[in-house]
Amino acid sequence: MHMAFPKDFRWGTATAAHQVEGNNINSDFWILENLPETLFAEPSGDAIDHYHRYAEDIALLAGLGFNSYRFSIEWARIEPEEGHFSDAILNHYRRVLEVCREHHLKPMVTLHHFTSPRWLIAEGGWENQDTADKFARYCSKVIQQLGDLIDMVCTINEVNIPMVINQIWLAGLDLQELGFMQAAKEVLGIAPSGKFSSFMFTPSEKGRNTILEAHRQAVAAIKAVRPDLPVGMTIAMDDLQAVDGGEAVRDLFRRELQDVYLQAAQGDDFLGVQAYSRIRFAPTGRLAPPEGNELTQMGYEFWPEAIEASLRYANQKVHMPLVVTENGIATDDDTRREEYYRRAINRIAHCLNDGLDIRGYYAWSSFDNFEWMLGYNPRFGLIEVDRSNQNRIIRPSAQCLGEIARSNCIDV
Ligand code: BGC
Repeated sequence: MHMAFPKDFRWGTATAAHQVEGNNINSDFWILENLPETLFAEPSGDAIDHYHRYAEDIALLAGLGFNSYRFSIEWARIEPEEGHFSDAILNHYRRVLEVCREHHLKPMVTLHHFTSPRWLIAEGGWENQDTADKFARYCSKVIQQLGDLIDMVCTINEVNIPMVINQIWLAGLDLQELGFMQAAKEVLGIAPSGKFSSFMFTPSEKGRNTILEAHRQAVAAIKAVRPDLPVGMTIAMDDLQAVDGGEAVRDLFRRELQDVYLQAAQGDDFLGVQAYSRIRFAPTGRLAPPEGNELTQMGYEFWPEAIEASLRYANQKVHMPLVVTENGIATDDDTRREEYYRRAINRIAHCLNDGLDIRGYYAWSSFDNFEWMLGYNPRFGLIEVDRSNQNRIIRPSAQCLGEIARSNCIDV
């Protein structure tokens, strides 16, 4: 069956500033990546130099057939010292937005994608309630200067990621105790008893409240400048499955990792849903992927159906437009990437057919990039990047997804 997507459906790819721009010594991650005892596989360095190559990069994406581009702008560049906003950097992002518009790519801008200014962390970071005010002030400034060119805004990327990392990937381990974090505190003159409360590594109740309050205040600040600009948060979802009677355990995780945040998103203009794989729970807790199943370079299962499960769950819990703000796979085998995207989009077509209000689909990622602690090893890019010369090489999966975007339909 031939399935057409809604007329104004947004087809795009996504990036985040720190993962593609690199070279930002004013950000907290720069400190973490460059410590002698760092847990990061390698520092971000120049990343893929999207900061200077954005014009050719945007042209490539438009040429593939997309009609939108999701990218983030970096708080640590725009406000490198508290209260000092850089017009030069804001103008840089203005040019990025203008180039998007010239190529008919509607820009979706994320205001916070994991990294924060180092001065913010020195002042208590995401456990300091004043952070919400400071974030809103930064958002207001950005929207005053750039809002006229933006199509949609994500305040904070993956508001729940600190809890997901702590409860799922680190099984409760407190990173603050590690030597690496102690060393990071020394760099910023934080007392040994204090915390280096980077966004990703603040899995406390206090952190959660600060993040959600920052989102609320940011929405109000943005609406005060541009009441008509659609604003939302994004949430890391994934398909949380129960096996062998694991429902109670699964639901407990789901409440903490998803429901609280879905609740907080109510009233926004849209919700950004992000999913990559599935996580299975038994009565004993989280299970490893079934023996023999295909794994991605991230170590989790090849599971393109994750996005459908996430959208359907979000739709059960909140009544608001949904946007797939990230979905994709890290692999060296581009045929598997193509298969992943085809299956995921096929499932989204079924969701639309069932009446879900889904407004867009953004693939993660436009380019191979800096995958945080894992460095440059995982390959998420639709476009390959050879970092020895910064050459861009379009992968067949990019052509395939671009074709789907251009035709705005798929055979299901
Ligand atoms: C994040 C991205 C990351 C991607 C792949 C998402 O959680 O928003 O920054 O690169 O997942 O792991």
